[in-house]
Amino acid sequence: MHRECTIFDTLPDGRTVRRWRLRNDEGAEVCLIDLGAAIQRLAVPDRSGIVADVVLGFDSAAPYLEAPYFGAVVGRFANRIRNGRFELEGNAYQLALNDGPNSLHGGARGFDKQMWAGEWVETGDGPGVRFSLDSPDGDEGYPGAVTVSVTYVWTEDSRLIVDYAARSTRATPFNITQHSYFNLAGVVGSEGSVLDHELTIPASRYLPIDETLIPLAAAAPVQDSAFDFRTAKAVGRDLGSQHEQLALAGGFDHNWIIDGSGFRPVARLHDPASGRTLDIRSDLPGLQFYSGNFLDGTIAGKAGVHYGRRCALALETQYFPDSPNRPDFPDCTLRPGALFSSRTMFTFSC
Ligand code: BGC
Repeated sequence: MHRECTIFDTLPDGRTVRRWRLRNDEGAEVCLIDLGAAIQRLAVPDRSGIVADVVLGFDSAAPYLEAPYFGAVVGRFANRIRNGRFELEGNAYQLALNDGPNSLHGGARGFDKQMWAGEWVETGDGPGVRFSLDSPDGDEGYPGAVTVSVTYVWTEDSRLIVDYAARSTRATPFNITQHSYFNLAGVVGSEGSVLDHELTIPASRYLPIDETLIPLAAAAPVQDSAFDFRTAKAVGRDLGSQHEQLALAGGFDHNWIIDGSGFRPVARLHDPASGRTLDIRSDLPGLQFYSGNFLDGTIAGKAGVHYGRRCALALETQYFPDSPNRPDFPDCTLRPGALFSSRTMFTFSC
């Protein structure tokens, strides 16, 4: 494994952003940056051995402060909280509203906008980088001081293991995810599309949403609907179908309730053209599949490529949206004395 830490860039306020690179003997590599603990580059071979970068991102640091979470770790609460409001242990909390009437992805300055402290680590699974962050009591309106770490390990067989750990001094909602946008063909700009990618999601139910993308009262079966990905299906196959839920989100932007529990498969993405496959496993209950509906070509990313609608998609392992207001959902409360510990693994093959 080849390892290298270099200066990636300097932010307008003078802070230095480092880039941590791990390249295995296959020539597959992952590059991580301190800002947002983000995956800046993830390059893996296709069936003829051609290595290409399969994630959206930037060649410089400042755009990461504005962009919609490209490659970043998202928290303290990934996804939406209705009206940015919740109650916990008898206290009411109001968060910043940064997505219509709701709070999205930790608020105005969530984990993705923070500078994390990186260090090399050796783990039983292989070498990696651990990013640590202190989120103070009251950060973005959330209770409790939280210390959080995200450890990325890159293996010789191109598995990216992402281990999350956190503790809090007071009870707080806690929901963390990795927010990479993937295009397994290699990111090919405005003409690029993930509509031909084949997606599998082992989930019998998903969470229908209202017009602000907050889950409705009840889950729905995927059976006989555009939301059934239990066997591999092209992302674009049912996107154009007349489904009220697709109209509300402008495509897929929903949470699937992954069948089973424990560390298990949550998604498989396959690009028939290149042969690249991504398998995702996680111990978290839900998966947000977002089909890049809001990308509109205005953002210019790496090498100046404009990121058009559906040029990439996100597959985010997480607790369900609006969990702090939903006693019927798995409890995402992190309590003092408890250790939050969770693993998501991205395996690349071809
Ligand atoms: C959300 C989308 C949002 C996107 C921003 C996704 O996790 O589900 O609604 O637009 O993040 O990048």
